[in-house]
Amino acid sequence: MVRMKAPRAVFVCQECGAQAPKWMGRCADCGAWNSLVEERVVDKPTNQVRSYDIPGGSTGAKLYSEIQIATQPRLSTGVDELDRVLGGGVVPGSLVLLGGEPGIGKSTLLLQTAANVARTIGPVLYSSGEESEHQVKSRGERLGIGDAPLYLLAETCLERILDEAARLRPTLLVVDSVQTVFSMKLQSAPGSIGQVREAATQLLFAAKGQNVPTFIVGHVTKEGGLAGPKALEHVVDAVLYFEGERHHSHRIVRAIKNRFGAVSELGVFEMTGEGLRPVPNPSQLFLAERPAATPGSVVLCCVEGSRPLLVEVQALVSSSTFGNARRTSTGIDSARLALLLAVLEKRAGLHLAGEDVFVNIAGGMRVDEPAADLSVATAIASSLRNRPVAAGTAVFGEVGLAGEVRGTTQAALRVREAAQLGFTRCVLPRANLDPADRALADSPCELVGVAALGEALEVLLQ
Ligand code: TYD
Ligand code: MG
Repeated sequence: MVRMKAPRAVFVCQECGAQAPKWMGRCADCGAWNSLVEERVVDKPTNQVRSYDIPGGSTGAKLYSEIQIATQPRLSTGVDELDRVLGGGVVPGSLVLLGGEPGIGKSTLLLQTAANVARTIGPVLYSSGEESEHQVKSRGERLGIGDAPLYLLAETCLERILDEAARLRPTLLVVDSVQTVFSMKLQSAPGSIGQVREAATQLLFAAKGQNVPTFIVGHVTKEGGLAGPKALEHVVDAVLYFEGERHHSHRIVRAIKNRFGAVSELGVFEMTGEGLRPVPNPSQLFLAERPAATPGSVVLCCVEGSRPLLVEVQALVSSSTFGNARRTSTGIDSARLALLLAVLEKRAGLHLAGEDVFVNIAGGMRVDEPAADLSVATAIASSLRNRPVAAGTAVFGEVGLAGEVRGTTQAALRVREAAQLGFTRCVLPRANLDPADRALADSPCELVGVAALGEALEVLLQ
């Protein structure tokens, strides 16, 4: 007689919660397609409260005023730009996800970080499921790692990684990448949503329980797809994304979520032969190759997190050969571009209907702020009319649907950055020109306030 073995995992519909013993393409209960994900069965129903191993966690509700704040100093990663993105270093016991496309530099950055922490604070465990110890080491040689107490582990089994971490008690744990790790408790393949989520959850408990800060790498594709990091963004404490064009040497690391710091904080790196090098003054880098007095090129002062940045916005307008004009943007949202084109057409009287329009933020930067509007609109008008913006001019401001230029946040910070880089004139929303604002009033830049798009174009494209 065959004895039935109790299943160790079940497939759970993510839409309705129905359980099935094996994977099916369609949930038998609610009919949702492709919604079944493997999950671990809790062996027996536990009546005890699970405290999830969080130190000081769950012993019943506590009175707000009686809770002591345990301030543990953050660990410096030894990489200034990474510390900045994390909000001043890694919080002990936190789980940080570093996402990005393959080949962008995730392993390089974390290996450098691991080596720095090993050298300055204590032993680090770097577990790679993608490369052998030899491969990691040969990369490390180029990065000049030397004899820091850095332990390498080529392993894909989650339980073994956790055992090794428990044995070594490192000051930092790196798991590269979460898609290659599998838990023995589940049967699905590494990289499936069930596995990725299980790995992240177990690593979170381990990080909190042993107070070891943990970095996990997650691959995402251009489409943001794959059974991957998106599913575990809510599990981890911080999500950092690597951005940048693979064909450019600079890389931007941005915080998308951070339980212990500001989001949208960003760090800028340059990929060199010796690994990633922090760029302390990114504005200089982004403007380095700017052509002088060329139509279609405008300098924008944007603010990312707490950091002001000057970037070059480029536009090219050329007559379309076919009926359907092309509108292409790199580095800004294409819906925003469509909106600005409509405003230019309707409120500033530009004829763009039969023109191809290409907009690009030079250097692989991505700008999502509305304060970029005025610079994008100006670049398009400048290219269309073939008139350059005077050298030494920087621009910022949001453009509304009525063609009005609206005030933005942190005007003084933007103006200061422009002045520091030698810009002599700033065109900004009139609403931001507050005479009581000393920081603005004392600026060496000439400040030109504008209230409407048409007025701005007149000032900028004389
Ligand atoms: P990698 O960190 O392996 O990317 P990921 O882990 O995100 O997949 O980065 C690989 C790229 O970086 C590869 O194209 C080579 C380049 N690189 C350098 O240019 N210089 C270096 O010192 C290193 C280590 C890598
Ligand atoms: Mg890698």
